[in-house]
Amino acid sequence: MRRAVCPGSFDPIHNGHLEVIARASGLFDEVIVAVSTNYAKKYRFSLDERIEMARETLASLRGIIVEPVGQGLLAEYCRHRGASAIVKGLRSSSDFDYELPMATMNRQLSGVETVFLPAESHYLHLSSTLIKEVADLGGEVSDFVPRSVLKRLLSTGPAGGHASGLSPLG
Ligand code: PNS
Repeated sequence: MRRAVCPGSFDPIHNGHLEVIARASGLFDEVIVAVSTNYAKKYRFSLDERIEMARETLASLRGIIVEPVGQGLLAEYCRHRGASAIVKGLRSSSDFDYELPMATMNRQLSGVETVFLPAESHYLHLSSTLIKEVADLGGEVSDFVPRSVLKRLLSTGPAGGHASGLSPLG
């Protein structure tokens, strides 16, 4: 069983992510979409919402699991889950500059390899941050996100952020 991990904040998941995840599932027997929480980040959507959107969108695809990463090192999580690879999409050389040291560190920490997939050309400009900004300012984002994300983007505004994915009441 060859298992890969596609990690990320997915705040929210968008079509660029989905394209990379679908291609990863063609390369591996099982792909874990590992939804992370970085406590230094402020998220629009809670961890549960980010997981729910990914699950709703990926439900029909076989061999794909969505779960939280939890705290701690991604390298340790990969070892614990028996994953031989981390899969990341690359949109640009700045993505590569950002990802390369993490890929090397993760390999040195646990032996897990990172596989980079070049993003499809029509998704090169997509980021969760840009999509949220365009949606908040009334722009059309339906070509960039799956339906379950669009619904939530339109019903939450910029004020609805969740610090570190925790409940706003927490
Ligand atoms: O979508 P993001 O926020 O860019 O995802 C970043 C992620 C989850 C891939 C990165 O923050 C990560 O690997 N976090 C786990 C913590 C860790 O292992 N840090 C050391 C990296 S070498």
